[in-house]
Amino acid sequence: MSPRGRVLCVGLVCLDIISVVDSYPEEDTDTRCVSQRWQRGGNASNTCTVLSQLGVPCAFMGTLAAGRVADFITDDFSRCGVDASLVVRHAAGVTPCACCSLSLASGSRTVLLWDLDLPEISADDFSKVDLGPFRWIHWEGRNGDEQVRMIARVNEMNGRRDPGEVITVSVEIEKPEKLDTHQLMGHGDVVFISKDFAKHAGYDSAEAAVRGLYGRVKRGAVLVCAWGEQGAAATGPGGEVARSPAFPPPTLVDTLGAGDTFIAGVIAALSRGQSLQEALTFGCRVAGKKCGVQGYEGLGELC
Ligand code: ADP
Ligand code: FRU
Repeated sequence: MSPRGRVLCVGLVCLDIISVVDSYPEEDTDTRCVSQRWQRGGNASNTCTVLSQLGVPCAFMGTLAAGRVADFITDDFSRCGVDASLVVRHAAGVTPCACCSLSLASGSRTVLLWDLDLPEISADDFSKVDLGPFRWIHWEGRNGDEQVRMIARVNEMNGRRDPGEVITVSVEIEKPEKLDTHQLMGHGDVVFISKDFAKHAGYDSAEAAVRGLYGRVKRGAVLVCAWGEQGAAATGPGGEVARSPAFPPPTLVDTLGAGDTFIAGVIAALSRGQSLQEALTFGCRVAGKKCGVQGYEGLGELC
């Protein structure tokens, strides 16, 4: 791997407190779950976990508070081979935490997230990062206005680099209600949109969404949309639409982070020079395998 072969993911890291349940509980009941665990979570953080398993050297940038939860998270980055040296620690505030229920009956995941007591990565934080080692930077859409400023710094630097040395920018727009992240659509070389975002924009399939929303991405960009058990679709400047089915595991056990895993698979494949179709299929394969295991173990075998 070249010295500037790394992928940087910027976004959320949180603690996921996961309860695996036989079936989703009734409100106002008191039941025993099948198992419980702590897991490092957050979209950008999960994408790093999978990239690392897929053999892509990667780094994470996000914020953490002080304390034991943050130490658990830092140790887990290190266990997974993800460089967390760009994490910004804040003395005040609370590290984000999500209570997640995984239902064995339906395969669904239900998440309750608290992430409002810690500042996000700012453009100022990002301005201090040495971009030299990175060939790809991925932003999970969060504080959109600041993230656009961070991307502008990368574009400015790209303008001064040889074409073979430019950093690819990807963005994920997941939550329709986070209006300030929508502008990121016009700023990625690769733009990932979620099923929720696409549905909210009036589309009823991944293919219809990428066709209908392609006009909103920047010239030459690729638009990718995942659609749960229906797989994913993508399109690029040529106008042709690539499609992949989902690859259901023998038993559906854990869909938490399927989308983050899909993104990692697509980035890994594209950054290795594979075609959009190959990348889409690989993303769905890795995500399907992930749905058949608790957490993110054993995904590297697909490489
Ligand atoms: P998110 O986790 O963000 O809600 P999606 O549900 O759209 O993301 O899933 C992302 C990808 O994960 C899909 O494109 C698909 O390849 C895979 N996936 C999700 N759910 C399943 C499933 N039940 N069976 C197989 N693959 C799945
Ligand atoms: C999965 C995930 C979890 C986290 C939640 C935050 O995509 O990143 O790890 O709890 O989403 O929205």
